[in-house]
Amino acid sequence: MATATQAGADGWTSRTAFILAAIGAAVGLGNVWRFPTLAGENGGGAFVVFYIGCVILIGLPLVLSEILIGRHGRSDAMHSVEKVASDSGVSRGWGLFGGTGILAAFLIMTFYSVVAGWVIYYIGVMGWDFVAAFFSGAPFAGALAAENPDQISSRMTDLFANWPLLLVLHAMFMVATIWIVARGVQSGIEKAATYLMPAFFVLLILITIYGAFTGNFAEAVAFMFNPDFSKLTASAMNQALGQALFSMSLASAALITYGAYVSRETKLAPTAVMIAAADTGVAIIAGLMIFPIVFAAGLDAAAGPTLVFQSLPIAFHTMPGGALVGFLFFILIFFAALTSSISLLEGVVSWCINKFGMARATAAWGVGGLMFVIGIGCALSLNVWSEFRLLPFIPNFADNNLMDTIDGFTGQVLLPVTALLTSIFVGWRADRQLVMAETGLSGGMFTLWRFLVAWLCPIAVGLILVFGLFPALLA
Ligand code: PFF
Repeated sequence: MATATQAGADGWTSRTAFILAAIGAAVGLGNVWRFPTLAGENGGGAFVVFYIGCVILIGLPLVLSEILIGRHGRSDAMHSVEKVASDSGVSRGWGLFGGTGILAAFLIMTFYSVVAGWVIYYIGVMGWDFVAAFFSGAPFAGALAAENPDQISSRMTDLFANWPLLLVLHAMFMVATIWIVARGVQSGIEKAATYLMPAFFVLLILITIYGAFTGNFAEAVAFMFNPDFSKLTASAMNQALGQALFSMSLASAALITYGAYVSRETKLAPTAVMIAAADTGVAIIAGLMIFPIVFAAGLDAAAGPTLVFQSLPIAFHTMPGGALVGFLFFILIFFAALTSSISLLEGVVSWCINKFGMARATAAWGVGGLMFVIGIGCALSLNVWSEFRLLPFIPNFADNNLMDTIDGFTGQVLLPVTALLTSIFVGWRADRQLVMAETGLSGGMFTLWRFLVAWLCPIAVGLILVFGLFPALLA
């Protein structure tokens, strides 16, 4: 049963708190790790332009849609959608897409925590290195000065081979997330966001300035903003859309759930714009932080998921002050990852609280524990289970290990499907007056927003979903 009071008892203390928490949910590994990886793999400019189009035309309207569902429903993702549906006089079966969102959050967290574990490892490596450099009287030395590039690069392969260590790191990150969520909205989630997000922004700006001065900024700008549309394949478009949804924490319960804790007075439309703008701004800045450093060291932008972890430490190796900056860089990613993982867990936990009447702490430890267990499979797919295939009969995933399968399935299937259903529901089925009142929009702005949600989102998301999954249809 949905409890309408869930949000009332422990909501955000202010609009700023909500904005910080929502930006914290949005800004994460998706911005600092996944976006540069995908932009690098898909040739830069055209991908970035298409991505920004997805953000403005699809992501932003959906951010507003999700927050309004949460604020009206005042419950977890599934119960909130059901409430909006019944207040609109349509089937509560629409709650289904709240459910697929919760499932997406659950699945994303299983691999998110493993990758965040890599971040903890690099904080340790770089931190130790910086302390050693500092005490040997060379605080501004390059990172890992005593190693050659091959040795630095093999740190990641060594880590991947060391499954017990991977599991310990995965457990550490999961416990940190659970601990914060178990404390509740105000004293856990809000507090974490109010400390971590400002620290994140300070570090981001500092490292970007550092990269601009010491790296190859011009080449990075050209790479990111000179589009070559021949590189924009159907699969690249599918990935860009999936990334826009992932990065803005859409279609995965988080924003509906956080919306439920927002007060009636908060104006939702400007808030949605702030969230979308901050998230996209950080992704672009992350690119401008990472690519100058990568290019200056002559490394490959298309290195894939190891770009940030394997390539950057090599780049920091030769840069002045690299030991310190490398250390700060991984702390930055850690902060971002933590405020996002909190929202992933919260989306599932709030559903368990409402559905099963569980105590918050029990739900947090129970759900987090289950995520940890499935995440073990993700960690092992880097080593002992690397040959295991979960979906060998689906061409897109036939070659993927468990971790890539979960990542690919959520990004390419679950998120777009949930986004599609969200837009059809808000655009066509939800009561117009209800929706208008929640958005606070009127006149032309409302018409524009509703057009994007009702027409553009379903058509664009539907097409990208189908052609991304079945590229042969385009041939
Ligand atoms: N938006 C987060 C990131 O970019 O890292 C990931 C994420 C968080 C996805 C929360 C979905 C979600 F519900």
